[in-house]
Amino acid sequence: MCGIVGILATEAAAPQVVESLKRLEYRGYDSAGVAALEDGGIARVRAEGKLKNLTQKLQSHALLGHTAIGHTRWATHGKPTEDNAHPHATDRVAIVHNGIIENFRELRLELEKEGVIFSSETDTEVALHLVDRELRKLKDPVKAVAAALPRLKGAFALGFIFSGFEDLMIGARQGAPLAVGYGEGEMYLGSDALALAPFTDTVTYLEEGDWAVLSRNDVIFYDRTNAVVKRTKQKSGAGAYSIDKGNHRHFMAKEIAEQPEVVGRTLAHYLDMGLGEVRLPTPMPFDWKSLDRITITACGTACFSGMIAKYWFERFARLAVDIDVASEFRYREAPLQKNGLAIFISQSGETADTLAGLRYAKEQGQHIVSVVNVPTSTIARESDVVIPTLAGPEIGVASTKAFTCQLTALACLAIAAGRARGVLSETQERRLVTDLIAVPALMVEALKGEHAIEQVAHDMAKATDVLYLGRGTNFPLALEGALKLKEISYIHAEGYAAGELKHGPIALIDESLPVIVLAPHDAIYEKTVSNMQEVAARGGRIILISDHAGLSEAGLKPHAMIEMPKQNPDFAAIVYSVPVQLLAYHAAVALGKDVDQPRNLAKSVTVE
Ligand code: G6P
Repeated sequence: MCGIVGILATEAAAPQVVESLKRLEYRGYDSAGVAALEDGGIARVRAEGKLKNLTQKLQSHALLGHTAIGHTRWATHGKPTEDNAHPHATDRVAIVHNGIIENFRELRLELEKEGVIFSSETDTEVALHLVDRELRKLKDPVKAVAAALPRLKGAFALGFIFSGFEDLMIGARQGAPLAVGYGEGEMYLGSDALALAPFTDTVTYLEEGDWAVLSRNDVIFYDRTNAVVKRTKQKSGAGAYSIDKGNHRHFMAKEIAEQPEVVGRTLAHYLDMGLGEVRLPTPMPFDWKSLDRITITACGTACFSGMIAKYWFERFARLAVDIDVASEFRYREAPLQKNGLAIFISQSGETADTLAGLRYAKEQGQHIVSVVNVPTSTIARESDVVIPTLAGPEIGVASTKAFTCQLTALACLAIAAGRARGVLSETQERRLVTDLIAVPALMVEALKGEHAIEQVAHDMAKATDVLYLGRGTNFPLALEGALKLKEISYIHAEGYAAGELKHGPIALIDESLPVIVLAPHDAIYEKTVSNMQEVAARGGRIILISDHAGLSEAGLKPHAMIEMPKQNPDFAAIVYSVPVQLLAYHAAVALGKDVDQPRNLAKSVTVE
């Protein structure tokens, strides 16, 4: 999964391409590159590593052409070297590519037999040489691309420019997103509307199998049968979002701090605050009462939000939930009852495994509801109902505000299900809604503890392993806490249901192991206290995150306590996300790690 951009500009295009790549770096940052048409030929500048390396190189090797494509890479085939960096090019054509060409081995053999010499290990280069071969024969770039595309199998988005064709760019979409943007005498191609937002907010999203031929004043769309098709222009709305860090040192810090606001915005979308009711903006095409169980599928952090929601659906709506990571769900041939409900959760709305799971569920006759942060994404477009999270663009690779907005939207959905199924009374609904409305203010309170959390994180950063424990909704939050810490600080961490401690992880406990315990003062608090006793008895360093300071009654003294505001525990997991995120953030900063762009990761995983 990579970011691609193309610009038919009225001046040197490379600076605009770089501007756009900055907004796509969340998709990968192993290498970056630009190719531009210059003096009838193709000139390229590529650099290993992050975009800043490319920017530096462009200072001494300026590209002046008005027609250019650019790329930021998350390596799949071949190491993140300059040779493997995109754009790839022959004398006639240059290409940028996001996704995977699955049949690249057989295509590469076929081309090598014909004498083609490859200069990279990438799958992308086969697409380049296929088009180049057709170009040599047909002398027409549009016909060459039309002839080459059907040979490619996999999920990808491609962008091409052609030597000697100043006013031409071609984009193709099969399984990975691609948008065309319209400017004043300029045209753009990009992996998402956010990348094009500095130049335009009028875009057309290509449909599956589409390809588009762009000139500065026109675009023609073709479908997979090469028939000319009409595709609608729309306002992306992406321009409304700033993607700077404000006064914060990192995007992650900004996104953590934004949570009271965006959670509030998401709540306002789903609640009638005056009446104290959930008001879903879109009617559901099924009757909640007819459901016995539902399926939730997602990846990474989004999956943990689904695991938390499972507790809510089961408690508030007496609706059993099966939840699985999408990479398992898509292959385990789960039997699904016809007309059932499958919920998919995804920040990006583009995650390949989640999308494949969605398509499987559709084939099995499920109603598809997706909880997504990008309403124009593929997952959103293939769903029957979209439950948007209103987090705004999330740039930090480690998900924070998208996660708490997913929780917020899912809590509203679970309450709506509970009401519709007659499990919750009006009064119970009002109480839960009142508790939800309190969440943003409680998050503000939790954020006030940042300085104290930072101290704890500095201490924790010296550890090689960390254990997170929680019960109920705080069990999946413990998993999320461990994931967050691993992702950005590279400290090994594990999350466990507190009750499972004695079934294995207790063997790890000694004086050097920080044990983060997430324990709101709820009905099972005392059970967690027993688990803390087990940790303390073995010398473990307890870091307690709780709204209840009464541990001394139990003869316990935590190594550190992060005090949380008092709240009704049903939605504590949303508020407790704040200290969990801040602990990981400050540990990573203390260790000098690249918080926003951790090694080996990418924000949007559009490959399997
Ligand atoms: C990647 C990201 C994670 C994210 C997961 C699912 O692994 O690094 O932060 O949770 O993908 O992404 P999605 O966009 O589907 O929520």
